[in-house]
Amino acid sequence: MSEIHLFDPQTLYRHWEDGQWTPFAIDLEVDREQWGDLGDEDRGLIFWVLSSLMVAEERITTKFSGLVGAYGSEEEATFLATQQVDEARHMQFYARFQDEIVADRATISAHVERARRQISPAFRAIFDTALVEAHERLIANPQDAEAKVRFVTLYHQILEGTLGLTSFNFVTAYLEREELLPGFVVGYSKIHHDEQRHIAYGTWYLRQAVAEAPALADVVRSTLRDLLPAVAESLTPPDREGTDWDALGASAEEIRDFAIGGLTRRLDVIGVPLSTL
Ligand SMILES: [Fe+2]
Ligand SMILES: [Fe+2]
Repeated sequence: MSEIHLFDPQTLYRHWEDGQWTPFAIDLEVDREQWGDLGDEDRGLIFWVLSSLMVAEERITTKFSGLVGAYGSEEEATFLATQQVDEARHMQFYARFQDEIVADRATISAHVERARRQISPAFRAIFDTALVEAHERLIANPQDAEAKVRFVTLYHQILEGTLGLTSFNFVTAYLEREELLPGFVVGYSKIHHDEQRHIAYGTWYLRQAVAEAPALADVVRSTLRDLLPAVAESLTPPDREGTDWDALGASAEEIRDFAIGGLTRRLDVIGVPLSTL
């Protein structure tokens, strides 16, 4: 069971200074050799995962600046500026993987366009509708605590903390077990390390927001109620239906339990237990 860290933005900023990396230094030689030899099933599933990550990280990078503008202290503004850079760096890693392994060299928007053909309506509902709306509302009202709480619940708890952590856990376990795409696993693990800081910020922020204004707990709850069904659906690979399927060597139930387990622990720390939904 992973612990929940409660670090303030200044501490998280110092961690960022100590954790720099570049997506262009990761060795992708073995990945290139393996890619051509992948069987149809492996390739189909991995292609779906890579497409989902490419689209998600583009959305996450370009729909974040509103939160930087909604900072509550200089320390928080500093941390949020680092998260903006991290997300762009993650997008650059996935784009490099597309450039060098999956497809031909192209602009990021061309890669995103191609990747979009793979993603589900549930995935679109989260990233193209809910995230975009929450971001626009925050840009229009940077001082509106409800808009900020909805955005951080959606972005840090649902997208990063639930969808992101779950994908990372099962995708890397599968690739490591099959000894596939070692360069990708190195990059994805560095991204995951950055994500831990982001999620820690989201937990810190929501905990103190709800402690200061308990009515904001209802905004956390309604955001989760709105989005959790689409999260469950977007963790389902194409061609699988219902709740009884296997993917990446794990059952739907294992994947769901992992996703809900982490969210439950963070919501307890925030002070809005999942059982109160
Ligand atoms: Fe990211
Ligand atoms: Fe992130």
